[in-house]
Amino acid sequence: MDDTSRSTPTDGHAVDAGLFREAMSRLAAAVHVVTTRGPEGRAGFTATAVASISDTPPTLLVCLNRRSLSAPAFHHAGRFAVNMLTGAQETVAQSFGGRGGLSGEQRFGVGHWQEGALGLPCLVGALAVFECRLVEARTVATHDVLVGRVEHVTLGPARESLVYLGREFRRL
Ligand SMILES: Cc1cc2nc3c(=O)[nH]c(=O)nc-3n(C[C@H](O)[C@H](O)[C@H](O)COP(=O)(O)O)c2cc1C
Repeated sequence: MDDTSRSTPTDGHAVDAGLFREAMSRLAAAVHVVTTRGPEGRAGFTATAVASISDTPPTLLVCLNRRSLSAPAFHHAGRFAVNMLTGAQETVAQSFGGRGGLSGEQRFGVGHWQEGALGLPCLVGALAVFECRLVEARTVATHDVLVGRVEHVTLGPARESLVYLGREFRRL
């Protein structure tokens, strides 16, 4: 182990949150924008905590911070779209990640958005868009795990992927 290594006890003590975040910053994760349309209009946020659960039936999950201003819109709508970003869509990720102080409908001023098959905001030119029905929501610590049954998929052009690694956006 070199001088810069940090470790944590394995005897049941809590792991330091900063150490956990540092370790997770080494995970290369695909960048998505998750959107919905509620009674108060469109909402969305940038997310790397997205995973496939099953293909039978097609089901995925998204982890949404309970403190997010858009969290109520997702629960009310009961539907959401997962837009998988290309390397050229970094500005969209920044807008929906809260940079620039944009919120709610303002964020949709970045990128070209259209209504999908389920009436959800879908990003034109995304690698893929999954329109989902919310079938389960479970609170775990600070986040809600949203489980979505995929009801429609739009495949975009196969291009570079946008990934987040080492607290930076990169193209793969
Ligand atoms: C690269 C990146 C990945 C993120 N991943 C998530 C995520 O998986 N879940 C989440 O709740 N927030 C995630 N965030 C933070 C949200 O995008 C951000 O907190 C949100 O847009 C805040 O806006 P709101 O409170 O107005 O909804 C991520 C941000 C960035 C830049």
